Amino acid sequence: MTEIADQPAQPEPAPAARRRPRRAAAPAPAARPADPAAAPGEGEPAGQDWSSWPTYNAATLGFRNYWYPVEWARRVGRKPMPITLLGEQIVLVREGDKVRALHDRCPHRGVPLSLGRREFDGTISCPYHGWTFDTESGKLCAVITDGPESPICGKVSVRTYPIEERLGLVWVYVGDGAPPPVERDIPSELLENPFVMGGRTDIRDGNWRFAAENGFDEGHAKYLHNTALWRLFKVMPAWNKTRVVESEKDGWLIRVQDEVHWEADFPGLGTWTNKRWWKRMPLPDAPGKAADINPVIKEMDLPGFVSIRLPGLLRVAYPHFIHYEWYVPVDADHVRYVQIMVRFEQGLKASVFKAKYVSFIRWLFHGQFTGQDAWMVDVMDAPPEKLYRPDLSVTAWRRLIERSGLKVQREKTGLER
Ligand code: FES
Ligand SMILES: [Fe+2]
Repeated sequence: MTEIADQPAQPEPAPAARRRPRRAAAPAPAARPADPAAAPGEGEPAGQDWSSWPTYNAATLGFRNYWYPVEWARRVGRKPMPITLLGEQIVLVREGDKVRALHDRCPHRGVPLSLGRREFDGTISCPYHGWTFDTESGKLCAVITDGPESPICGKVSVRTYPIEERLGLVWVYVGDGAPPPVERDIPSELLENPFVMGGRTDIRDGNWRFAAENGFDEGHAKYLHNTALWRLFKVMPAWNKTRVVESEKDGWLIRVQDEVHWEADFPGLGTWTNKRWWKRMPLPDAPGKAADINPVIKEMDLPGFVSIRLPGLLRVAYPHFIHYEWYVPVDADHVRYVQIMVRFEQGLKASVFKAKYVSFIRWLFHGQFTGQDAWMVDVMDAPPEKLYRPDLSVTAWRRLIERSGLKVQREKTGLER
């Protein structure tokens, strides 16, 4: 069973705000493209643009044929809720215990159906002329301003999207043909074990790729986050030597730390360390090495803390809990950041976790700590870029995308989108 701690409500931004252009298009390809197979530090893996990563470069709006978590299920009611997903305008409505998703555009004159009313059970009516659509099939089933015999009925429909509810979230499939089971896109440990979770969702500025790269980025956490209150009492390394391995289960890339250095002498400059008298020395370099590890996490046998998988899901596993974050593309300049913290506990321990989550974890970790990531994702502006040795995590992620045969979501221009 899944239990959900309280989450703060996050209003969807106005469509105009969601479409605000913030970053210039990538410049023309460089004369000599970089070799995407090269690791950072062994040549120039990327530079003036992302032409070495053509699929990645084209994936401004993400990838089709995946299930994406978009909203807390309890927040979707009878009232139409507009969302943007991979650049597509979608309206969510609830019909009893089912949520429905339709393209948020009336085919008559292009008015958003999310502005409409719920005149009859199982339908949504456009606010302009009252075209009324069946929310399950998307078929035009009545036209209020053309009478019961309206000849256009049954001849027009709006697109519907497959939808599921899991982990207390509504999942929408954006793709072609019959969707796979939603479970394909949910970490198997969350399907196979009871747990308690808390989470929050935000729409953040910046393209989803920057958010995903930031998540799997090896270099930043120990420096950017050393000012986070969440890390106030824990030492973080100065630098690591890391490699990336691929898991046989669920297609995760996992960062493995081969060396951890708690301080470093920079000749002529001095020593840098994160150590302070009030900080505890931290976790071992893999979750499984902790003495009192949770049995479910132990069973996962992870060689490193941080993993990423398609289409953009990060997992940070600690000995007692796991943090997940989904980078769900909204449009070119916004990402839906869905973060949950999971403990594989029941009973009293689960209740204690829920109390801790609502009283401080969601503010310190899912607020201020990951807010530092949001800050960087918002202000960074690449390419051009010059990658350094720890960026092998970023290039491994891009390489995974290039070889995975993904279907890029293209900008839609036609009337029926
Ligand atoms: S625009 Fe929707 S009914 Fe006319
Ligand atoms: Fe971070």
